[in-house]
Amino acid sequence: MIIIDGKKISSDMKQELKHSVETCRQKYNAVPGLAVIIVGEDPASQVYVRNKAKSCKETGMNSEVIELAAETSQEELLSKIEVLNADPDVHGILVQQPLPRHIDEYAVTMAISPLKDVDGFHPENVGQMVLGNLDKCFISCTPYGILELLSRYNIETKGKHCVVIGRSNIVGKPMANLMLQKLKETNCTVTVCHSATQNMPELTRQADILIAAIGRANLITKEMVKPGAVIIDVGMNRIEDASRKSGYRLVGDVDYEHVSKTASAITPVPGGVGPMTIAMLLKNTLQSFMQAQGAAQSL
Ligand SMILES: NC(=O)c1ccc[n+]([C@@H]2O[C@H](COP(=O)([O-])OP(=O)(O)OC[C@H]3O[C@@H](n4cnc5c(N)ncnc54)[C@H](OP(=O)(O)O)[C@@H]3O)[C@@H](O)[C@H]2O)c1
Repeated sequence: MIIIDGKKISSDMKQELKHSVETCRQKYNAVPGLAVIIVGEDPASQVYVRNKAKSCKETGMNSEVIELAAETSQEELLSKIEVLNADPDVHGILVQQPLPRHIDEYAVTMAISPLKDVDGFHPENVGQMVLGNLDKCFISCTPYGILELLSRYNIETKGKHCVVIGRSNIVGKPMANLMLQKLKETNCTVTVCHSATQNMPELTRQADILIAAIGRANLITKEMVKPGAVIIDVGMNRIEDASRKSGYRLVGDVDYEHVSKTASAITPVPGGVGPMTIAMLLKNTLQSFMQAQGAAQSL
């Protein structure tokens, strides 16, 4: 059984990116820059934003964290995005979700220039991705990170049955779409499950590759998995744990303890998909920088 080590792969990628950023500095006398906006004081979001900024710095990229008060109006947020859209030193713009209720997430997504939308959420990027024009878009970071894991672990995917559980716009839908495409690391037959799916275990047991993006702790049990399947667990769920100082621990959507005994490969939580999301965000920021220099190819 292989434990797919996202922590190691993301650390390898950060080293590779650091090298590329240094080449940018020498060649263009500039480095990629990422601006992250956070509205309000959600503690989990603050941790994510801090981690993104820290990772940026580790690779030598510039990072700017813009902290706005929870009561910031939508208009103010949109005008801040406008300023960043026009700033030549900013190559990636990310607005941390969730946003306060009075702000329309769709309006925010639409305000970010597709050329700086390193989250890959803008309809222009989503559309190009669905069309298979992957060199003309930013792929959303979590599905992109999963492709990278499948590729770096040489997981055979061609003609395999991939079952994706979850149909969110940020994970399930782009993931299912990518697995369907004719790429080296995809080319699967794809089934998508969601909360209205009937007889889900019957479908999951057919999966050669099972991708769980649900947000329900340990929902996927050993009985739902075909022996020898590859398991990708996107879920990040906090469960109470009195033995921890924090009072909780993170678990995935998959019952790791039992499923890992029957799977051929599995991503742990934490340390699987999570670290890859940030690595791909940085990769997208580098791609944006290269496009801004008029360079078609990455370094
Ligand atoms: N590792 C990372 O970097 C990363 C990144 C993003 C998200 N995540 C984690 O991944 C999980 C999913 O995130 P998300 O943003 O996609 O969540 P989401 O928007 O809440 O979507 C969850 C999906 O799961 C489906 N679902 C819920 N309960 C189900 C059930 N009992 N059986 C089958 N399907 C069910 C929902 O179906 P309906 O559509 O019918 O409601 C929905 O499509 C969360 O734990 C999140 O924290 C991790």
